[in-house]
Amino acid sequence: MFKLATNFYNLFFGLFGRNWITLIGSLTATISAFMIIFFIIIGVTGYEITPYIGIMAFLLLPIFFIAGIVILLIGIYKDHIERKRLSSLGKNQSPYPTIDLNEQHTRKMFALSISIIIATFLVLSIAIYHSIHFMDTVTFCGKVCHTVMEPEYVSYTNSPHARVKCVECHIGPGADWFVKSKISGVRQVFATMLKTYHRPTPSPVENLRPSRDTCEQCHWPEHFSGSQLKIITRYGKDEKNTPRKTILNLHVGGGPLENGIHSWHIDKTKNTTYIATDKKRQKIEWVRVETNGKEIIYKTPEFDENKIDIARAEKRLMDCIDCHNRPTHIFYLPAEAIDRALNFGEINKKLPYIKKIGTETLENLDINSENAKKKIRDNIEGFYKEKYPEIYNNKSEEINKAIKTIQNIYRKNVFPEMNVTWNTYPNNIGHYKFPGCFRCHDGNHIAEDGSKISSDCDTCHKIITMDEVNPEFLNILE
Ligand code: HEC
Ligand code: HEC
Ligand code: HEC
Ligand code: HEC
Ligand code: HEC
Repeated sequence: MFKLATNFYNLFFGLFGRNWITLIGSLTATISAFMIIFFIIIGVTGYEITPYIGIMAFLLLPIFFIAGIVILLIGIYKDHIERKRLSSLGKNQSPYPTIDLNEQHTRKMFALSISIIIATFLVLSIAIYHSIHFMDTVTFCGKVCHTVMEPEYVSYTNSPHARVKCVECHIGPGADWFVKSKISGVRQVFATMLKTYHRPTPSPVENLRPSRDTCEQCHWPEHFSGSQLKIITRYGKDEKNTPRKTILNLHVGGGPLENGIHSWHIDKTKNTTYIATDKKRQKIEWVRVETNGKEIIYKTPEFDENKIDIARAEKRLMDCIDCHNRPTHIFYLPAEAIDRALNFGEINKKLPYIKKIGTETLENLDINSENAKKKIRDNIEGFYKEKYPEIYNNKSEEINKAIKTIQNIYRKNVFPEMNVTWNTYPNNIGHYKFPGCFRCHDGNHIAEDGSKISSDCDTCHKIITMDEVNPEFLNILE
């Protein structure tokens, strides 16, 4: 046993350690090998191998291992040349070192160095395991490149998906996608360091993974059924901020036999593919539906086949994200955000004209202005001081709360450092402020036989009331 170890030791430092190239090569290869074995063992013992651990253990380490072997071979070759040169000069090559383990000192040193090497491997592996695990966390994705990710991180923390990890939507399971994501990740790290990233971060995210591997890991809309009553409250810009209700019976559907939104759009036998003529996918002029081997192509009259080469244009197969493009990075427009705050009671509905003045203050702010917060305060305080001095004096607490809320709305939706402002990211669900469904369902997408993509208002919802102050319908519910 001892003899074996001595031989190994001799071999290792005598042969591989003869010049620094062999030493580096052999160390790289052995360390990587040990670490790969370590990760395999932890994988086998049931620890979760997350995408990043996988990439490290089964992609980067093997590369290091092979690189180590190559360096080692170069070193040995160099050594070989050197010996040849020396012997051609008639000089003797330097002899291999002798290690005599019969000497107690050498034996101790030998045991010590082996222990140190083993301990180093262990510590290194555990450290790497944890650092890779860290890369999967929301903290890493959302906070490391703080400025760059701030708009997405802040909107995410206020969304229904605030407990879903970034990587669950952006990477998803499986090795091939994390390889892709890591390669683009490296590019992004450089872009951040060199400050060459785009401001704002462009959307749609090209090559975002098909939603069946992300959203559909948690959602199963085939199993939703029926319609949903949607009551939307919007406040008027009058003195009383009069609330108005729009009540829709939204045919969300799901089951294949229903005429619902999901039933049609997520039916796996119907593939909808489209060509967008702008980067943000807001202008859709060519749509193809494939059902059971048949295809129908809808085009707008403006679609110009001389300008757009259909064969080569990017055709996108529609999935969840073409409608739900903002499931978590939800940015609100000023009026919408104020309506929500009024609904939540974060702004007192009794403050005269608060909807109007709040919305206009936000809309008119220059996003590059230095102290937006102060401007919001000055504007709203100024308004009440001048127009409603009594309220200004008696309800200063309510005014103050409203101001803070409005400042917060600004902070959560406008990010000057990333050039993100109102409108930067369109929301494709519905058709309230952005074209959304009307990108296709506008009555302007026509097939050869003259049929159109439906634009009848009852296709997607029954409108029960629209902007009514006291809808009778609500009495039935109450
Ligand atoms: C519920 C799924 C989901 C989660 C969780 C999620 N994202 Fe997203 N993200 C999306 C979708 C969908 C888009 C838009 C895709 C598109 O339009 O192409 C997007 C877009 C982005 C963009 C591009 C800019 C933009 O706003 O469109 C960035 C950057 C981003 N996400 C970062 C993050 C970070 C950081 C986290 C975690 C803090 C995160 N995402 C969590 C689904 C998600
Ligand atoms: C890890 C699981 C998970 C993933 C992945 C996920 N979601 Fe969700 N999603 C949830 C949960 C949980 C809720 C319910 C949150 C709540 O009600 O507070 C939800 C809620 C929703 C809602 C309803 C939101 C609302 O306002 O009530 C929509 C729409 C949605 N998800 C779409 C998506 C889309 C699109 C994707 C893919 C980009 C996605 N989800 C990915 C877990 C997930
Ligand atoms: C054609 C557009 C469209 C597509 C495609 C689509 N949805 Fe929806 N989805 C909607 C609309 C519209 C609603 C209702 C929105 C609302 O209530 O504001 C909705 C509602 C939802 C909800 C909330 C339902 C509830 O009961 O609260 C979830 C979750 C959801 N969709 C998930 C998905 C998933 C997952 C996919 C992909 C398999 C998908 N959707 C594909 C348009 C779409
Ligand atoms: C890329 C184009 C495109 C977009 C965007 C789109 N649709 Fe569609 N949708 C179609 C096509 C094509 C059909 C099939 C033709 C038809 O029946 O009108 C269809 C059919 C439907 C149907 C079934 C209609 C029927 O007659 O049974 C509903 C409901 C529907 N879409 C709802 C929506 C909603 C809601 C949105 C927005 C959240 C939306 N669609 C966005 C292309 C689109
Ligand atoms: C392709 C489907 C589709 C068609 C066609 C359609 N809508 Fe809608 N509409 C929606 C969806 C989805 C929403 C809900 C968006 C949301 O969740 O807030 C909506 C919301 C609305 C709202 C509420 C807007 C708000 O937030 O205040 C009104 C009003 C409305 N639709 C009117 C109409 C009218 C009028 C027509 C006919 C010209 C029409 N819609 C046609 C899908 C459609």
